[in-house]
Amino acid sequence: MRMTVIGTGYVGTVHAACMAAMGHEVLGIDVDADRIASLAAGRAPIREAGLDELLARTVKSGRLRFSTSLAEGAAFARTHFVCVGTPQRPDGEAADLRCVDAVTDELARHLRPGSLVVGKSTVPVGTAARLGRRIAAVVPDAEVAWNPEFLREGSAVQDSMRPERIVVGVTSAHAESVLRTLYTPLLRAGAVFFSTDTATAELVKVAANSFLATKISFINAMAEVCDAAGADVTVLAAAVGADSRIGELFLEPGLGFGGSCFPKDIRAFAARAEEIGAGEAVAFLHEVDRINTRQRERTVSRARRLVGGSFADRRVAVLGASFKPGSDDVRDSPSLAVAASVAREGATVRVHDPQALDNARAALPDPTYTLDIPKACEQADLVLHLTPWPEYQQIDPRALVPVVRHPVLLDARNSLDARPWRAAGWSLHALGDPT
Ligand code: NAD
Ligand code: UGA
Repeated sequence: MRMTVIGTGYVGTVHAACMAAMGHEVLGIDVDADRIASLAAGRAPIREAGLDELLARTVKSGRLRFSTSLAEGAAFARTHFVCVGTPQRPDGEAADLRCVDAVTDELARHLRPGSLVVGKSTVPVGTAARLGRRIAAVVPDAEVAWNPEFLREGSAVQDSMRPERIVVGVTSAHAESVLRTLYTPLLRAGAVFFSTDTATAELVKVAANSFLATKISFINAMAEVCDAAGADVTVLAAAVGADSRIGELFLEPGLGFGGSCFPKDIRAFAARAEEIGAGEAVAFLHEVDRINTRQRERTVSRARRLVGGSFADRRVAVLGASFKPGSDDVRDSPSLAVAASVAREGATVRVHDPQALDNARAALPDPTYTLDIPKACEQADLVLHLTPWPEYQQIDPRALVPVVRHPVLLDARNSLDARPWRAAGWSLHALGDPT
């Protein structure tokens, strides 16, 4: 089947390549001409495991092409996936829908009758219905459906090729049948298919992200209590998570969540719920957000104590810049937020990251960046472990002792094995541990 994928960022590039890999003919469209040129040459704009190979293969096969023209897209296909960004509005907490609206209006000018516009972007409930009315005013026979995306950065290709569930919000049996057919290989591979109305589909997405964010903030709230009580949150998380009704995933305590989605999605959900008269029902999300932001402050203040009360004239090594391992994305990265605070308070900061240095440098120019862990740690008074890349588990703590000024490490992700570090003479600290 033929389709366009509009917006070739994290979601769109992966979706376009995966749909082409499933045998569909795909035209990826973006307003960013440089991005389109490099995609057309088979180069991904982002680093994701398996994406470069998939792109190269599908572009070479001719099943995946790229363009900057929505008019070309409307002529090429009758199914259009919208994957443009929905960031937080600059003037508040609601979602900024300007890109989604711009695509809809431009598409409506060119759409052929009977076309299906399928939103994948994360949007406030009611958006599909609103856009549907907007398109229907121009193209009577067109439909807007919503098919939220659940991929995680770092495992985006795997998540897209083997999703646990596919959710579609539709207003006709025709749209459901088109989407079911498009996703047949994924359904055969075991994905559960939920077909519902558009409002429910939109809400499934923000409810899922809110639940996951709440789980993380819950365990971080427990870490604060553990700090006060002299208890160990790592053991607490493992023991609480061993109850299969709770589950161990997303109970990793530490610096908290960042990225382009959880923070802005819980805020946008709370703002939209307020608009439709259900604000009280999700007022707890404000607390989830506050707990999360507080972990960044707790990390900075713990670090400050560990360097003697002030960062002036101190050297701090930061391990990790991306918002999570496996991704080069630094949007709302907790690690960079901590690095920025520490630098603002007078420390000389050196940051290591295996993949995100270019993006980190663009987002936060002040620190020194390096691909070499010992270089990042040279003469450091304190090492901060902020993004739990697997590389950091492989560090030989003995080899770093002569490199640093003081062998003091704050493991703000509670994920390093303390024993070899302590055996090598390091003073090791974590959030929510009894030390
Ligand atoms: P992104 O910022 O990486 O990419 C968005 C792309 O849309 C950019 O390439 C931009 O140039 C393009 N664009 C903007 N306006 C356009 C227009 N008028 N016409 C064509 N292209 C246009 O965003 P993303 O991270 O891929 O997220 C996209 C959506 O998916 C968001 O709503 C996000 O919340 C949601 N989402 C993201 C993830 C994720 O892991 N990043 C996962 C699930 C859902
Ligand atoms: C998240 C969801 O997991 C995806 O299902 C969703 O599609 C996506 O948001 C989205 O809507 O964009 P992602 O942000 O890529 O995916 O990454 P996660 O693995 O969920 O991690 C998010 C943040 O939470 C990271 O900063 C991570 O370090 C943090 N985290 C995660 C914790 O602090 N503790 C945990 O136990 C788990």
